[in-house]
Amino acid sequence: MNAEKKQVLVTGGAGFIGSNFVRYLLEKYPTYGVVVLDKLTYAGNLENLADVREKYEPQERYRFVHGDIADAEVVAEAMQDCQFVLNFAAESHVDRSIEEPGQFIQTDVYGTYILLEQARKLKEAGEQGEGSPFERFVQISTDEVYGHVATGSSKEGDPLETRSPYSASKAGGELMAHAYYVTYGLPVIITRGSNNYGPYQYPEKLIPLHITNALEDEPLPVYGDGQQVRDWMHVLDHCSGIDTVMHQGQLGEIYNVGGGGDEYVNLEIVHTILKLAGKPESLIKYVVDRPGHDRRYSLSTEKLQALGWQPQYNLKDGLKQTVEWYTNNREWWEPLKSGEFKEYYRRQYIDRK
Ligand code: NAD
Ligand code: DAU
Repeated sequence: MNAEKKQVLVTGGAGFIGSNFVRYLLEKYPTYGVVVLDKLTYAGNLENLADVREKYEPQERYRFVHGDIADAEVVAEAMQDCQFVLNFAAESHVDRSIEEPGQFIQTDVYGTYILLEQARKLKEAGEQGEGSPFERFVQISTDEVYGHVATGSSKEGDPLETRSPYSASKAGGELMAHAYYVTYGLPVIITRGSNNYGPYQYPEKLIPLHITNALEDEPLPVYGDGQQVRDWMHVLDHCSGIDTVMHQGQLGEIYNVGGGGDEYVNLEIVHTILKLAGKPESLIKYVVDRPGHDRRYSLSTEKLQALGWQPQYNLKDGLKQTVEWYTNNREWWEPLKSGEFKEYYRRQYIDRK
């Protein structure tokens, strides 16, 4: 374990993966401090960090900054004294990107540029002996940049074939990060993660939506024929993969972080959720498919495994634990399924054409 004191900026730390990562990092590295910068969009939730705040704020190892990664002034304040930046902040939902792409470009591309600019300034200051050296900028990207993968598994050198406004925006962000590595020598590393599931996931993505709908005896909407394949990964495996890359990855490189190769079509996931929740299959409701829906994703994770990383969860056990978590934490998700969520749900599912 690294016993050095480090200060880490985690953007989007109040979201699903970011909050899991903050908890993971602070527990694993007792000499690290974390600054979370988050805009608290509909997907950001300070409740995700309530235990972190209680435990680590008194030790001065955790600080929260409310703000936008596209705001240079806020970013400069939050990033000061940091040696690491992990950029989780993003508009992250494909369906919302189809409704309204603009905010995706603003946050996922422009916001990433603002973070890179500030990191460049810190790096240059460190080189002139002002402040400690800037160590690493980790850009959290997605397997969606590869687009639909008919056979085999995507490797890091494969071409990008983005097909949704979300994946195009994420590709824009990571390409800009790579450009800062090449042009300015900023110590950038990029990760491309597959579909995550686990605790604290906002209940609009497939697994938390279907678990919570099942628990409420509401219909489970399945897009198209339900035969799409995703490379499911438990969020804590994603966290350990990012930790490995953050500490051992090679600068300028890209690392896939994926679920370990078990393939399930969406419908199998939905059947498993219903079984685990003890609910009938009559809750399944087929709805019109997502426009441009990528049929299959699959990642080769050989490059990350060569650094010693291995996923710890299989989907069967991970899903069981996740259904238990949502069953036991109704007070976390029930308030989220009101207000803005209900509006979104109506547009997305009730008025769906
Ligand atoms: P999420 O939607 O749950 O959380 C995103 C967080 O970013 C929220 O807390 C939100 O408030 C914050 N945010 C959004 N815009 C911001 C802005 N302009 N400034 C500051 N904060 C802002 O997303 P997630 O599922 O936790 O995903 C985190 C990251 O991982 C994203 O970059 C996403 O593209 C990537 N990723 C997600 C998955 C997945 O399966 N969820 C897989 C691979 C990669
Ligand atoms: O692959 C990584 C990506 O996974 C991340 O980069 C994104 O941030 C994350 O949102 C996720 O994108 P997906 O579009 O794959 O996730 P979603 O949970 O929306 O959908 C998973 C699959 O389930 C997809 O094939 C669409 C389908 N689906 C989804 C919903 C919400 C349904 O059939 N019904 C639904 O109600």
